Amino acid sequence: MPVTQPLETPIAYDRIRAVEWQDGHIRLIDQRLLPGKLEHLTLQTLTEAVRAIRDMAVRGAPAIGITAAYAVVLAAHARYTENPANWQAALEPDLRMLAEARPTAVNLRWAVERMRAFCTTLSGDPLPALLAEAQRIHSEDIAANHRMGELGAALIEPGSGVLTHCNTGALATGGYGTALGVVRAAYAAQHLNAVYADETRPWLQGARLTAWELLQEGIPVTLLADSAAALLLKQGRVQWVIVGADRIAANGDVANKIGTYSAAIAARYHGVKFMVVAPTSTVDMATRDGTAIPIEQRTASEVLMAGGTRIAPDGAHAWNPAFDVTPAGLIDAIVTERGVVLQPTGEKMAALMRP
Ligand code: MRU
Repeated sequence: MPVTQPLETPIAYDRIRAVEWQDGHIRLIDQRLLPGKLEHLTLQTLTEAVRAIRDMAVRGAPAIGITAAYAVVLAAHARYTENPANWQAALEPDLRMLAEARPTAVNLRWAVERMRAFCTTLSGDPLPALLAEAQRIHSEDIAANHRMGELGAALIEPGSGVLTHCNTGALATGGYGTALGVVRAAYAAQHLNAVYADETRPWLQGARLTAWELLQEGIPVTLLADSAAALLLKQGRVQWVIVGADRIAANGDVANKIGTYSAAIAARYHGVKFMVVAPTSTVDMATRDGTAIPIEQRTASEVLMAGGTRIAPDGAHAWNPAFDVTPAGLIDAIVTERGVVLQPTGEKMAALMRP
């Protein structure tokens, strides 16, 4: 299944784009269909974008934020066409609906707030200026990922094995990826002798998406059941566990895909280093610590079924938190585009985020 997107930068292993603006609409890879089918969705309205985010046709904190920024362009254009004198006020309910499409990934709210603030500076047809702002959000994310790739790869000794969880790659971001950007950069620098990926039950982001995008780029990957990770770490095959984040609180606690916390506990127990890679758009200094991060609960059917087939008996209930929180104390490094925070604390996060 070839990747059709053009090579946009000279950076190695950077060919996949999950979100694009094309001919006045948003074009998304429909991530629900991967790896079986590579199909694109065309979104013409903000309501369609909200549905795509809720249903996880597009997912991953930065990719959700970028989709939201483009959705604001579509909605602002529609509201301006309806009534040029009142488009900013008419846009407000759209922005609220968009910001609430998923609760945990703070990049969504961050992108909506940045676009809302930009709207207040505009007069006349907002489309060209808003589109330029959304494209800036998109290209800044890619640049941040390239920078984090360099910074994170520099922490990895040649000859290392790494374990990653969920999908944090090009599919989850503007391009290249956060944790998977570090994997890409470390592989390009020939620092890696093995890349392991948790399958990431229940939605299988690791098995379906991480394995797909690494293989598209020619990077070998070995999948394992999430429950096999502790044994992998015990056997010394991995020197770093590398994950992304959906929200980083002011004290350095990290919300990420369910299973990240177990991986961090297992890493600490076995003396394996634990790295979180996320742009500063994922850092929420207004959230004091991990206990204040809202955790999305998703439908029971994601747990009760696999690949469209019911795997649990009728009558079984399911608990399906989509994210968990890893305390700052279990994290060795938070890598952002502004720099690396080793052994994160509130003071170090505040220094990183200081303008
Ligand atoms: O539910 P998802 O697939 O949107 O969750 C994504 C994750 O948890 C990723 O690990 C996180 O967003 C980092 S993406 C660069």
